[in-house]
Amino acid sequence: MNIRFDGVTVAVTGGGHGFGRVMARDFARLGARVFTCDLSAEELAGTAAGTTIQTEAFDLTAPGAARGWIGRVEAASAGPVGVLVANAGGVRGQVMHPVDEVPEEDWHALFDINLHACFNLCAAAAKGMKAAGRGRIVTISSGAGLQRSLTGIQAYCSAKHGLVGLTRQLSHELGPYGITVNSVAPGFVPSNPSSVAQFESYGEEGQKRLLQNIALRRLGEAQDIANAALFLASDQAKWISGQVLSVDGGK
Ligand SMILES: NC(=O)c1ccc[n+]([C@@H]2O[C@H](COP(=O)([O-])OP(=O)(O)OC[C@H]3O[C@@H](n4cnc5c(N)ncnc54)[C@H](O)[C@@H]3O)[C@@H](O)[C@H]2O)c1
Repeated sequence: MNIRFDGVTVAVTGGGHGFGRVMARDFARLGARVFTCDLSAEELAGTAAGTTIQTEAFDLTAPGAARGWIGRVEAASAGPVGVLVANAGGVRGQVMHPVDEVPEEDWHALFDINLHACFNLCAAAAKGMKAAGRGRIVTISSGAGLQRSLTGIQAYCSAKHGLVGLTRQLSHELGPYGITVNSVAPGFVPSNPSSVAQFESYGEEGQKRLLQNIALRRLGEAQDIANAALFLASDQAKWISGQVLSVDGGK
């Protein structure tokens, strides 16, 4: 199977770090014209180093930011987005609090990045994709979008469940226009400071237990997640839509 993205405009969010960085660099290596965004210009520069990846640093949850960025990507590439990977998200440094102690703003902050920004990105990209009669949308949800979250964070679990729902709903709405919409649901990957801290907090015994519950007996790597996203974004996945692909070493 020879996956290529020559001439395709690819927009990946959260490309400064973790999964998004690996995806952006892989898409570029496979011929795509890649655009990525994140909060930190410095991290984005690390992603773009030695490539043609175009980057922009801003907060996707700011009013109008997600839709505005898609507009700028379309203008810069003089055409629609071919592939959108809505990857930016996470727990934003939050930790679990009992439900009766969760500050309301913490709840909203996780919905803003893990669900609302993804909706705005999809809505903005869908317009051009519909006109083109083709497109690929890949959301990065989580095992926490399918069951309880190991983080214990109510908003993270709820927002990722919402993202899975959005993915399924949009696959039906956009399918008639030749657009596929799928999600990758990663398992535990120590790819960001929060997931590293979470793994460390389990201690030796807890870490052993976690690994024993993974069929392949190892934690994931960013590359495992990127491989799945690139497949779903490729021509080879053209008759796959509305699916949530768990990439978690087997549960
Ligand atoms: N690592 C895991 O174990 C795991 C498991 C399941 C799901 N996920 C999901 O995978 C995605 C990527 O995770 P990762 O491990 O690569 O994390 P990461 O923190 O390395 O990457 C996420 C990127 O999104 C960016 N981002 C966050 N909020 C943003 C905002 N408001 N505006 C712009 N950019 C913003 C961050 O700065 C970061 O660079 C996230 O959606 C996360 O929820 C991760």
